Amino acid sequence: MTKAKDLKVMIVGGGGREHALAWKVAESPMVEKIFCAPGNGGTALETKVENLPLAVDQFALLSEAALKEQVDLIVIGPDNPLADGIVDYLEEKGHKVFGPTKEQARLEWSKSHAKEVMRKLGIPTARYGLFTAKEEALAFARHNEWARVVKADGLAYGKGVFVCSSLEEVEEALNQCFAERAFGASGDQVIIEERLTGEELSIFLLMDGKTLLPMQACQDHKRRYEEDRGPNTGGMGAYSPVPLYDRYRSEIEDQITRPLAEALGRGDFSYRGVLFVGILIADDVPYVLEFNARFGDPETQALLPRLQSDLLPALMACCEGRLAEIELDWTEEKSLCVVACDDGYPATSSKNEAIEIGTIGGDARLFHAGTAISDGKLATNGGRVLAVTGLGKDFEQASDAAYRNLEAITFKGMDYRKDIGWRVNSKCRSK
Ligand code: AMP
Ligand code: GLY
Repeated sequence: MTKAKDLKVMIVGGGGREHALAWKVAESPMVEKIFCAPGNGGTALETKVENLPLAVDQFALLSEAALKEQVDLIVIGPDNPLADGIVDYLEEKGHKVFGPTKEQARLEWSKSHAKEVMRKLGIPTARYGLFTAKEEALAFARHNEWARVVKADGLAYGKGVFVCSSLEEVEEALNQCFAERAFGASGDQVIIEERLTGEELSIFLLMDGKTLLPMQACQDHKRRYEEDRGPNTGGMGAYSPVPLYDRYRSEIEDQITRPLAEALGRGDFSYRGVLFVGILIADDVPYVLEFNARFGDPETQALLPRLQSDLLPALMACCEGRLAEIELDWTEEKSLCVVACDDGYPATSSKNEAIEIGTIGGDARLFHAGTAISDGKLATNGGRVLAVTGLGKDFEQASDAAYRNLEAITFKGMDYRKDIGWRVNSKCRSK
């Protein structure tokens, strides 16, 4: 029989989020070995961790590898395999899997379904219309001046949301979805919703099918450049905790977390895994902008360094319906994570450039994302290359730690936003 301290875990995915998960799970005294599939150059270097050269959509090979290695728990990182039913497939093969089924993950892969669930549970969300053709959609936007945000209904690699200022921009967005089919079938249905203004934050809720356990809040920086300018990206940096969350804690609990928890308890809502709730506060109301069926990236790299408890028992408890037994302790310290990428990202990405890493101090953690080891050397491998999370007693210190340690790292074309955390860092605000 497997002793509790000899557990083997497989983590599916290869980004910064998966490196952070692997690093945190590796800290657990219960874990003997972690397999990352496919992992990255950073997971390859972690103690107890081994990369497996398997893609996230190779369900059968992932199952075979997990059987061969006698893996006790499989943790799914990214959205696409969840939407393709990886959890259903692996559970059918007898594996224990952390993550929602395809039907549960529909909260992320169908925005219209998410809207329907929010309506049923009375969770605040922007007013909207749902369309399958351009002309009706445009007529709706023409008729409703508030309707200026166009969203492809399905998964679109974070590029399917257009926050428009004019009817012309709405029309252009609709052309991309319907005429150019820029998002394929994901854009066959489109939501047009009210454009809200306010500050955003995300919360992460663990669920085991019956109970809900909130983790802490984070704030992402989706725009590529300083002062939140430039194209949307997967996220250029994040920090945790979020003072805005503390200000709106009771509204968020009353209007979002409690309705979800009660619906879970009644059996009117089914979910297992982590639910990422993207919130925008407008006129003191916490509107849900989106649900994601997974941990955020780079939010996870900001969140997990603040978790003092062992993560593994919480992940296991989610799979076994024992989440009510789990408590999570968080450090009072602040964290701030800065993502480094190619200077032309997101239009371009860096490949096969050598990465030099000096000494990273004890006040920071380096998480790899688009890196690989080739011929024994660490090199860039596309997209968001890596991130450094700084920790400190306040955001000023956490920011200093992140940026100081980033200076120990170089690769050709390396670039990063210099203002991550500007809302909470008095030094940024006074510049
Ligand atoms: P989503 O993928 O739905 O979170 O959207 C991506 C980003 O678009 C969000 O983080 C917001 O910055 C912005 N956004 C989405 N929906 C709205 C909305 N209804 N009003 C204003 N901004 C929005
Ligand atoms: N950082 C946003 C996301 O993971 O979707």
